[in-house]
Amino acid sequence: DRPLRLGIAGLGTVGASLARLVTARAQTYALRAGRPIEIAAVCARDRSKDRGVDLSGAQWFDDPVALASQAEIDVFVELVGGSEGAALDSVKAALNRGLTVVTANKALLAHHGVSLARLAHKKGATILFEAAVAGGIPIIKTMREALRGNATSRVYGILNGTCNYMLTRMEKEGIAFEDVLADAQRLGYAEADPTFDIGGFDAAHKLAILTSLAFGCEIDLESIFVEGISSVTTADIEAAEELGYRIKLLAVAQRTESGIEQRVHPTMIPAASALAQIDGVTNAVAIDTDLLGSILLAGPGAGGDATASAVLSDVIDAARGVRLPALGVEPARLAPYKRARMRAH
Ligand code: NDP
Ligand code: HSE
Repeated sequence: DRPLRLGIAGLGTVGASLARLVTARAQTYALRAGRPIEIAAVCARDRSKDRGVDLSGAQWFDDPVALASQAEIDVFVELVGGSEGAALDSVKAALNRGLTVVTANKALLAHHGVSLARLAHKKGATILFEAAVAGGIPIIKTMREALRGNATSRVYGILNGTCNYMLTRMEKEGIAFEDVLADAQRLGYAEADPTFDIGGFDAAHKLAILTSLAFGCEIDLESIFVEGISSVTTADIEAAEELGYRIKLLAVAQRTESGIEQRVHPTMIPAASALAQIDGVTNAVAIDTDLLGSILLAGPGAGGDATASAVLSDVIDAARGVRLPALGVEPARLAPYKRARMRAH
């Protein structure tokens, strides 16, 4: 069978893991995909950097947009990051060619998801984004596919691995904020600009995507109340512990009488609750639905291999020709978002 030709833009934490796995597990993935998967083109800023994998057979591009517009590929994998610039322009270029786009870029989708979904729809292209929310947890497939028969009333959880890793180590080891942030960066958990993590914006990007999937509405990033963990101290964490609580950065979207409320903020949660047990880089997403009741999915929320696991599921779907509307429903059927007034919390 004809190989599926990947163009991978971005060979950092996630992109390099993906390239290594596609190469090392080629036979297994060919069986699962029904045809071989080959890396036809790659792109990063620094051509000389060792990526831990032999990419000499792939065409090198310095510019993601050039790769997306010119390379002979079937799937464009965007792992560059950022909501504008190279990430946005390259994804648009790939969709304009009718290519399948696979991305882990939640910032891009939170800012431009609806317009990109419209472009994909118009061009007969597809955007797959399992890795964009909660790292390796299969939350997008769960919400887009497995829960289709349900009405969702609430989706909430721990959506940022860096913050949860930091809060856990601050609590268990008493390590100061700055030191533990440096560890999260070294381990490849943090965003290129870690302000997105500790400021709560990364969790807000992910929440905006989940809200759209859960409620079939347009993404509305602007209306999310966002407070990060920058002001949380080890003293706060100790005080919460004495009262029988743990502090977690929670992201919540729920249906209210006046619309859909979305918020991200540090929250004291009872130490015995399931979410309080989620430690380290682990994420957890709880979904309340009418038919199924409540479910909780937990697993690694960041890191190269964990995130590449989710990217690979999309790549194998692409090889098999899976075509789903981006954002769960056809763009034209997305309901306008009704903003809810934020309640005190
Ligand atoms: P990195 O910063 O580790 O890697 C980014 C890659 O993109 C690097 O290879 C870099 O090149 C390349 N790059 C950046 N800008 C350009 C440009 N203008 N032109 C060419 N190449 C460029 O990011 P991550 O791998 O951590 O993240 C990638 C995406 O995945 C982001 O959207 C992120 O939010 C998302 N994500 C990350 C997770 C994680 O755990 N790290 C988890 C889930 C999602 P060079 O290497 O030469 O500098
Ligand atoms: N920086 C993100 C996090 C990566 O820490 O959760 C996963 O999206």
